[in-house]
Amino acid sequence: MRGYFVTFEGCEGSGKSTQLKLLAQKLDEAGADYIMTREPGGSPIAERIREIILDGKNTAMCDECEALLYAAARVQHIKEKIQPALESGKLVICDRYIHSSLAYQGIARGLGEEYIQSINSYAVKNCRPDLTIFLDIPPERAFDRKHGADEDDRMEQLGLAFHTKVYNGYLALAAKDPVICPVDCSGTKFETSGKIWKLLVEKGIVRG
Ligand code: TYD
Repeated sequence: MRGYFVTFEGCEGSGKSTQLKLLAQKLDEAGADYIMTREPGGSPIAERIREIILDGKNTAMCDECEALLYAAARVQHIKEKIQPALESGKLVICDRYIHSSLAYQGIARGLGEEYIQSINSYAVKNCRPDLTIFLDIPPERAFDRKHGADEDDRMEQLGLAFHTKVYNGYLALAAKDPVICPVDCSGTKFETSGKIWKLLVEKGIVRG
């Protein structure tokens, strides 16, 4: 049986990395057969594409090139890692996936959702998530938590106005796509982690 595919989304500083670490501990304790991976990256070639995309020196990169590079990294990652793991029945947990492209490049950059769906249709094909967990925390609070943006990261340099567009983009996507489940992150990291685990149990993805 094909494994479940779960993706995590959220703004910079939303606590994704912390939540993914806590989730890994719980999955290990539960003896789950899973892999955890990330975008952009997750395979050697995709990680090299990641370096180009995020390099703070690449200020001349146009929005279309950025969107296509994310899609290129994605297809390599799918073929090399995600698809084989799903086919062997493993649960795949991915830090960011197509909804990042829709929110960042489609909505915040303004390329449009249709453009992103179209270029990603070649990359993603039928490799769609069964569940997308959106860590819901407004960017001004998220930036506070992470004590400001990383100067060397091209995406983080974009400022609060851009990241507010990303956040509103996620909310708009969640309103129309039932695969996206927002999780309120205003509590402690352990409260948020508990909510995520409960959601995975409810969806039948892990055993409670
Ligand atoms: P990363 O350092 O992994 O950020 P985070 O820890 O917040 O996930 O960098 C990934 C950056 O790439 C992040 O700013 C979001 C952005 N991104 C897109 O703009 N589009 C995409 O399709 C993906 C996968 C990521």
